Amino acid sequence: MTDRVGAGAHLLVTGGAGFIGSEYVRQVLGRRDGTRITVLDKLTYAGNRANLAAVEGDEEQAGRFRFIQGDIADADAVGPLVAEADAVVNVAAETHVDRSILDPEAFLRTGVIGVHVLLEAVRAQADAGRHVRFLQVSTDEVYGDIAEGRSVETDALAPRSPYAAAKASSELLVRSYGVTFGVDAVITRGSNTYGPYQHPEKLIPLFVTNALAGDPLPMYGDGMQVRDWLHVSDHAAGIDFVLRHGEAGEAYNVPGGTELPNRDVIGRLLEAAGRDWSLVRTVPDRPGHDRRYAMDGSKVRALGWAPLVEFDEGLPATVAWYRDNAAWVDAAKGGDWADYYRRQYETRLARGQAAAEIDAG
Ligand code: NAD
Ligand code: DAU
Repeated sequence: MTDRVGAGAHLLVTGGAGFIGSEYVRQVLGRRDGTRITVLDKLTYAGNRANLAAVEGDEEQAGRFRFIQGDIADADAVGPLVAEADAVVNVAAETHVDRSILDPEAFLRTGVIGVHVLLEAVRAQADAGRHVRFLQVSTDEVYGDIAEGRSVETDALAPRSPYAAAKASSELLVRSYGVTFGVDAVITRGSNTYGPYQHPEKLIPLFVTNALAGDPLPMYGDGMQVRDWLHVSDHAAGIDFVLRHGEAGEAYNVPGGTELPNRDVIGRLLEAAGRDWSLVRTVPDRPGHDRRYAMDGSKVRALGWAPLVEFDEGLPATVAWYRDNAAWVDAAKGGDWADYYRRQYETRLARGQAAAEIDAG
């Protein structure tokens, strides 16, 4: 199978200080095959330089690694970095659906303006006779709510939250630059990802860290929404497979294959954390909450990728990681966290609490 971005390449990984980006960096540099990586990351509330400590602390890996703080929407920062790269892996995005409901603007700035800036920089290299492959990390949320069956790559995009709309917009821009300007671009659509180093705003790390602290777990609505869980190491490997072997102009679903209602996930993580259901509060639902995502993974499997981490093993290991990394959790729950948590949950928890008392009475 053709390897389009082989050993020894120089990758520009944008958003490499986040959850999936940092796993991707650790994994690729861990191969020790001569690949070099430059990370460009804005270090938003979700970006954390500590996520890259393993790489920066390893003499051999650190020699092949460079970190630059900057915004993908800043053409002056992006141009010279793309000019040195063989491929751009765009992991950068605003990623939390709930925050996109509170405040959508940053999602569009990074997802539309930022992706456009990256694509222009890649196009400029093509005009100068240099080939740079572009990979856009996308999501199953671009398909919208799937009542039954599984989304295939040729299905229409039907995003339903500002986050998903920004991700679909990024994809459309990427596609248009492939068709119009011949940019060599591929897209991955990953499913719900879990594992170490995930910001505790997302379901699994939020509920695990709250459970370990004995705090309430705010479950939206009836908790029967279905997500397909993918371990972060499998997601990173899927991105790398598509980068190296994907056909230009194509999108690839990257599903985990473990489709579960939130209630099941919550029950399992409580068990792994040694806590019980009494911590769970039913709270008012997320507006426009997608009920179910499910994707068909045959296309990426044909490239040779398959998930390796079983949810039954990955989840307890993830719970243990958050238990063992309290300093990392405290830092992630610093900064604007208290303010965000209050905006997101204070009224919800008060209403949920009232509903629970009404149910009981
Ligand atoms: P994350 O929020 O943990 O990390 C995002 C990173 O991007 C952070 O380091 C942040 O500082 C950086 N960033 C944000 N805006 C930037 C900008 N304008 N310029 C430079 N850097 C910027 O996100 P994640 O969960 O690791 O997700 C990574 C990618 O994978 C995103 O594109 C997301 O849409 C996609 N995705 C995530 C999941 C999931 O379940 N987490 C599933 C499918 C796809
Ligand atoms: O499907 C892929 C997507 O998965 C990625 O593209 C996103 O970047 C990522 O954030 C994730 O989106 P979700 O909205 O599915 O993830 P989140 O962890 O926010 O929520 C998972 C489910 O849990 C969802 O049905 C909402 C529910 N939930 C979430 C939170 C934060 C709750 O019930 N309570 C909560 O407090």
